Amino acid sequence: MKKKSANSSGQPAPILPANQSTKPLEPPEDAQTLRPDPRELLGSGPIDLGTLKKLVNKSVLSVKDFDRKTVVELCRFAALLEVMEIAPYHLLDGKILITAFFEASTRTRTSFESATLRLDGKIISIPDAAITGVKKGESLGDIGEMFNAYGDLVIIRHTETDALERILRNLRIPLINAGNGSGEHPTQALADWYALLKWTPALAAKKPQKRNGGLHLGIMGTPGNMRAVKSFLLMSLLFEENFRRITVVSEMADPLGPELREEIERAGIEFSESNSIQEIVSDLDVIYMNSIAFLGDSYRSLDSQNKLDKASPLKKNAVIMHPLARLGELDTNLDDTRHNLYFAQAHGAVFARQALLIAIFDRFERLPEGIPLK
Ligand code: CP
Repeated sequence: MKKKSANSSGQPAPILPANQSTKPLEPPEDAQTLRPDPRELLGSGPIDLGTLKKLVNKSVLSVKDFDRKTVVELCRFAALLEVMEIAPYHLLDGKILITAFFEASTRTRTSFESATLRLDGKIISIPDAAITGVKKGESLGDIGEMFNAYGDLVIIRHTETDALERILRNLRIPLINAGNGSGEHPTQALADWYALLKWTPALAAKKPQKRNGGLHLGIMGTPGNMRAVKSFLLMSLLFEENFRRITVVSEMADPLGPELREEIERAGIEFSESNSIQEIVSDLDVIYMNSIAFLGDSYRSLDSQNKLDKASPLKKNAVIMHPLARLGELDTNLDDTRHNLYFAQAHGAVFARQALLIAIFDRFERLPEGIPLK
């Protein structure tokens, strides 16, 4: 039997006041860690339902499946989900998600599963290729055919960039790319931008070009090889007028590759490369970093000579972003500082992914009356 939506109560949605949270996601009270309040991003205007409805029944394979307005409205919807008591509305009741992780994950699989379970959806969790027919030599195409019958949506991670094409040969239900080799990780970029837009909601507004007063974005890592860094960079280009310069800090000779270089040129943002974070760190406003790359058939740590710690000459208001997992490039002594936006990325991912799943499944009608969604 279908669970009844609280719509029928006619009561306004219970949005929690700023000083109150029921979420178990808050840092200790005395921590300095940034955990920006979602209310400013949510703002007072309605969330654009027409924009979110474009995602209904759609797959998300790349950041290129989003436009700027979709990212902004998804993030505003995520902000709403973060500040309201959502459990009573059973938004994913009756839906089964398959999390098919053929490569290791701490955050992505767990946050998708948490996002789903908190909305009363169900999960078939595959945390390791070794427990599937892959162990016996089964093809991804055949696995995709089976998934059509077992679930309503698949979230896949794989070491190989072409894994999506192979499973899509037979898959007829929506697919979310949770990381394909050195390809992309679009929902990581969504979680990243959800954290950034909460930090500075003004980044969402399309304004005249103000490059000289804009942000200097530093990327420590190789976007050409690191899927999370690549997806973050591609999504950042949707917000290009906010950046006066992008600098990539990498030990690789060509950290971008031709495709990304062309995208940056098309956006018309000043671009530079450096091989030393120390040379530029004092000018950076946003630093996005990562050092783990899956190259060939194993993980490698790149850019290991470039590190940030509490003694680095960071601007007072600079924020550090990291998709995690980290190695030595990001010292834990930065965790309890106002530069730390990376925990907000990981924690907010639950709400960003909830927003996406509700949109794909078109479960908006289950939200209670009084929700600012039009
Ligand atoms: N950010 C990210 O993709 O983390 P996991 O590898 O733990 O999923």
